[in-house]
This record gives sequence, structure tokens and C-alpha cells, in this order.
Amino acid sequence: MTSTKEVLRQSLTMVHGCPMVSAFANNWERIEQFRSRPDDIVIATYPKAGTTWVSEIVDMVLNDGDVEKCKRDFINVKVPMLEMAVPGLRTSGIEQLEKNPSPRLVKTHLPVDLLPKSFWENNCKMIYMARNAKDVAVSFYHFDLMNNLEPFPGTWEEYLEKFMTGNVSYGSWFNHVKNWWEKKEEHPILFLYYEDMKENPKEEIKKIMKFLEKNLNEDILHKIIHHTSFEMMKDNPLVNYTHLPTEVMDHSKSPFMRKGIVGDWKNHFTVAQNEKFDVIYKKEMSGTALQFRT
Ligand code: PPS
Repeated sequence: MTSTKEVLRQSLTMVHGCPMVSAFANNWERIEQFRSRPDDIVIATYPKAGTTWVSEIVDMVLNDGDVEKCKRDFINVKVPMLEMAVPGLRTSGIEQLEKNPSPRLVKTHLPVDLLPKSFWENNCKMIYMARNAKDVAVSFYHFDLMNNLEPFPGTWEEYLEKFMTGNVSYGSWFNHVKNWWEKKEEHPILFLYYEDMKENPKEEIKKIMKFLEKNLNEDILHKIIHHTSFEMMKDNPLVNYTHLPTEVMDHSKSPFMRKGIVGDWKNHFTVAQNEKFDVIYKKEMSGTALQFRT
């Protein structure tokens, strides 16, 4: 494939049993053979869990809350997405990562099993942000309406069925969160929740600081909270993805920075959908200590 047009609205491609954005699935060896650096910091999430938010927070923490330094480039340059590759469009995630100075921030939505083994071998620090499944489903649906690299989501009803059965890019939300949760027993992974970050950003940012061995004062902490609030990020062209061509992301269909709240699922799920979802949720999440707030 050589042009962007050819990869738009394509069906997902299976990569080692995981449904993948078709454009990213090309030449998967490039991912498997990726060479990490020991001081790389991986920001891993299931899509729509608040990746962009935590990425900007981590960049602010590493730069001691210096807003000007954090304005040095677009979020996808500062925190490249490992698996991202769009023919004819721009630098791939890996090309950008190779250019970035250490310590690099690496964004990925890959499930544990697909993360290049070099990250485990180098014992790289990882931050995993999780968000409750219902809000993720709603956010992902709207994202798929505006992001032409994804297959067209269909109606909300149709999309929700696909989400519940893991027939969306990066596969099952259930497996993703459960496997990352378990992995933290054997690897340095800071496991955070979107809902906690919303409720008490100060405490969550302090956890990030501790994990990254950064000691920042209260003033800086408040600066970080302010700069990374939804209201600020929504209007910040360096992080709201409005710089991408409309051909790829069409914000008129739904903005990337959509609502940024907890509980929007209540505006989308019918009573019947909610009941069905709860049954599947209970079955999928039985046997894990992982608890979400909706
Ligand atoms: S992606 O495409 O998977 O990388 O998207 P991701 O960044 O993970 O998730 C996008 C959702 O996160 C919301 N968001 C925020 N919420 C609160 N505060 C801040 N600062 C913030 N930044 C992004 C964004 O609005 C998407 O959620 P929804 O529910 O669709 O609004």
C-alpha cells in the first residue's frame, strides 16, 4: 500500500490473534524487532482511556512543569505511538521514536502479548491508564466516526455488539485491562485509572512523580493540573489532534477532545444494552480483583 486513501475505512487485520488497524498491521516485524532503550517510559492504554491526557501529564512532569518546553512540538512527536504507520502521511511512530532524545516517551495501545519483547528485557518503566468499559465504548464509537483509519463503526447498537465481543481494534477491552493488571506483578508498571485522575488529579500526578523519581513542589503540581485540564487541552492545538489532515481525522464528525467526563455512557446505553453489558462484564471480569467506577 502506498497512499493514505488506500488505508482509509479498511477492515481490521488480525495480528497474532489481535484485530489491528489495517494501516498499522503492515510489516509487523518492525514492531517485533523494535529496540527499546532502558530509560524508555511506556504509556500503555486500551484506546480512549485517556492516553493523550496522561502523555501530556508525564511530559509536564519530566519537564518540571515548564509549559514553554511542553509546547516544543505536537503530542504525537513528543510521545510517538509505537505501532502507528500510515502510508503517504507522515513519519511513523518508530521513525519518530528513533529521532527522539532519551528518556523517550512511547505511546502504545498494544495488549501485553504484542508489546515488543525488548521493553520487557530492558525492564522499562510503564504507566498503564485504565478507564471504565462503558465510557470507553462510547468514546471509541465517536472516535471511529471521526477517525478514518478505523472501520466505519455503524450504528451505536451495532458498534456496542462489536465492542462487547472484542471485534474492534486492539481486541477485547476485558483481556487488555486484565492482562496489563496481572503483568504489574512482575514488572514496574504504574496502574492508574481515568476516574481517579478526574476526581483527584493531584494525588494521581503525585503517583506519577514518585514512579518517575521526580520531586516537584506544590506550585509546579498546580501548574501541571491546570495545563492538563480538559478545558485547556481541548483548545490546545498541540494536543487536540486538529493538526492532522481532515482526510484522516474529521473533527466535524466528532471532536477528538469530546467531553472528557466520567459517566457519559448513561447518555448512550439503553436499559437493555446496559443489562446485557453487565452480564458480559460480570462473566469476563470474574476472578480478577480489578475494580472500576462508572
Ligand atoms: S486515543 O485515540 O486512544 O489515544 O485517545 P485517548 O487520548 O486515550 O482518549 C481520548 C479520551 O480522553 C479524553 N481526554 C480527557 N479527559 C479528561 N481530561 C483531559 N485533559 C483529557 N484529554 C483527553 C477525550 O476527551 C476522550 O474521551 P471522551 O469521552 O471521548 O471525551
